[in-house]
Amino acid sequence: MAQLTPGGIVGGEAELIPTLSSLEPVYGEGSQLDEARLRFARLGDRFEAVYGARPALFARSPGRVNLIGEHIDYEGYSVLPMAIRQDMIVAVRRADGSGQVRVANVDDKYPVCVYPADPDKEIDIKNHKWGHYFMCGYKGVYEYCRSKGIDLGEPIALDAVVDGTVPQGSGLSSSAAFVCSATIAIMGVLEKNFPKKEVAQFTCLSERHIGTQSGGMDQAISIMAKSGFAELIDFNPIHATDVQLPPGGTFVIAHCLAESKKAETAATNYNNRVVECRLAAIVLAIKLGMDTKKAVSSVTTLSDVEGLCVSFAGNEGSSDPGVAVKKLLHEEPYTVEEIEKIAGESLTSVFQSSQTSLDVIKAAKHYKLFQRATHVYSEARRVYAFRDTVSSKLSEEDMLKGLGDLMNESHYSCSVLYECSCPELEELVKVCRDNGALGARLTGAGWGGCAVALVKERIVPQFILNLKEMYYKSRIDRGVINQNDLGLYVFASKPSSGAAIFKL
Ligand code: GLA
Repeated sequence: MAQLTPGGIVGGEAELIPTLSSLEPVYGEGSQLDEARLRFARLGDRFEAVYGARPALFARSPGRVNLIGEHIDYEGYSVLPMAIRQDMIVAVRRADGSGQVRVANVDDKYPVCVYPADPDKEIDIKNHKWGHYFMCGYKGVYEYCRSKGIDLGEPIALDAVVDGTVPQGSGLSSSAAFVCSATIAIMGVLEKNFPKKEVAQFTCLSERHIGTQSGGMDQAISIMAKSGFAELIDFNPIHATDVQLPPGGTFVIAHCLAESKKAETAATNYNNRVVECRLAAIVLAIKLGMDTKKAVSSVTTLSDVEGLCVSFAGNEGSSDPGVAVKKLLHEEPYTVEEIEKIAGESLTSVFQSSQTSLDVIKAAKHYKLFQRATHVYSEARRVYAFRDTVSSKLSEEDMLKGLGDLMNESHYSCSVLYECSCPELEELVKVCRDNGALGARLTGAGWGGCAVALVKERIVPQFILNLKEMYYKSRIDRGVINQNDLGLYVFASKPSSGAAIFKL
């Protein structure tokens, strides 16, 4: 078992979570460092005001913006996000004797949440509370340690205060930043440390306690990010490869101001798409000759049947699995009856081991298998095309144009085939493109939240001014947001570093 050791901020997934004694390695210098110092000091003071003692340590994990590769991580495909400077900080200490986990927030909008210090207690997902994400982290640490045979003794009681700057419901992974920062804070208190790769893996499972069947992208980038790089994240096993972005381009992130409520809407949105992808994969497997029972019991993702699809495409002179989708699935939405006939089983029996999938089945009227599978296979290819474009010998001008085109194609696919956009995101993406973005797309789960636009470095200030004028002004006038908060909703971002524990 690994013990806490001081670590650097460089390095990959084999390394442990770094424990730092100063803020500079993460926040750099200048105004960002000054702001961070102030935040940590205020958080410590708030902690003392609430619990009457100083925290034992702080833990920080960043939000992320996904540049390309949307809704494909849970299908086993690589994605290409980068961490942003907005993050979640957790201050924590043991609260021996209290028998509770208490989670407070520096923002009074979030009331204190109190839970029994019991990692086996299920999270009450029907009664959603912001503090539940902390308990995802708590349960996850215990589950991981048990799976490794590490005895943590009596469950620990904890006091925590949280300070987040990742806007909630923004598609920038405030939830993963919260689960990851809580997780490493708890690891710190328990004086346990594990390789980043393992933490990235188990925090993904931990977050599923909230009821979403999310893939591992958000936790992987939040834990494994490196300052100055986007990362190509592969799954099964998790692996991160540095991607150096062209210096002449900047990613501007802009919130459409419709909140993306991933956990609350899981049954009709996020989890629905996971279920549709699984059904598409099962139907494809059967159509491609796999034994029906075997398909139902063993096929879970579209990447499981990629090999079969590619062999099929080979007969048509192509290597694109999308060819099989085109030939073997129909565009008309599938009815329950049709799928059950193909699968030889009822959908409730196919998904009997997953309550969150059964919730999807209950809510769904039909299943758009052709559209979802076409999105997944084409988006998976765009991720590699993006990575290849970045590392190509193209002139910077052509490279930026190529990246922008891929982002635009990704957005089209998300919007039309995956149907995870919304009117506000459509309007915002158009405003971005009309104002000189080389490419713009929704980022994260969608159904609200942010767009990310690739903009030439030199026009960034004017671009942001134009967005303010053409997208945000009318919303400020209508009182949707406050003029002074605009900087929280539209900003340029450089790749930030990953999670760290601070003993200051
Ligand atoms: C959410 C999930 C991720 C990923 C994205 C969509 O952020 O947590 O795992 O699926 O949506 O790409």
